[in-house]
Amino acid sequence: MNIADQKKRAGEKALDFIADGMLVGLGTGSTAEYFVHALAARVKQGLAIETTATSLRTAELARELGIVVKELDAFSRLHVTVDGADEVDPAFRLIKGGGGALLREKIVAAASDEMIVIVDEAKLVTTLGRFALPVEVVPFGLSHTLRKIEGAALAAGCTSHDARLRRLDSGQPFQTDGGHLIVDCACSAIPRPEELAQLLNAIPGVVDHGLFIGLASKVIVGRAGDADILPG
Ligand code: A5P
Repeated sequence: MNIADQKKRAGEKALDFIADGMLVGLGTGSTAEYFVHALAARVKQGLAIETTATSLRTAELARELGIVVKELDAFSRLHVTVDGADEVDPAFRLIKGGGGALLREKIVAAASDEMIVIVDEAKLVTTLGRFALPVEVVPFGLSHTLRKIEGAALAAGCTSHDARLRRLDSGQPFQTDGGHLIVDCACSAIPRPEELAQLLNAIPGVVDHGLFIGLASKVIVGRAGDADILPG
């Protein structure tokens, strides 16, 4: 079964946890988009929910499909956020931000009672870090921030520590919805994610990073024939 089918299965399975009256956070990325499509079909059939989005891209897609999307501040709390991930370890620690939306994704997940993560099998890892860790930074003093990010990866015991500015195919720096930049730090393996998260949080030019720890409550993995819900 191909990856796209696994992502679709996972996105559709997440609908089992959405009910009338819920306030729902919509994630970003190709897997989250399958969820948004499936959700839109249910909304057309009469499902009554309210939503907010973790990126301009997702908000646009949801609106095109007929889902009403509000600002996060319209809600004091969300019942659930459904989002993808780049890596998931057995403790439900995540790497996110491959699509560059990690800051809004983390703010929305933290405002939710539950974060449901939807992934294909390839995202499951025993140790985080094969996927380069996205770090959102401000443009001012970029080279200093890059060196400090590499220093944090080294101090946290990562196997490698090579931080690079993310660029578009045009060569221009990638810009987040909030007008920040993304640095991808190749770590190879992150043996102590909590320590790395703390060290990154302490760097002045870092806005946030793609380590999501203690946020995911459920992980749905798309597989051939169905989708599995991993025991938390
Ligand atoms: C977006 O910034 C990311 O956090 C995505 O959720 C993550 O990259 C997973 O993307 P896919 O679902 O496209 O694999």
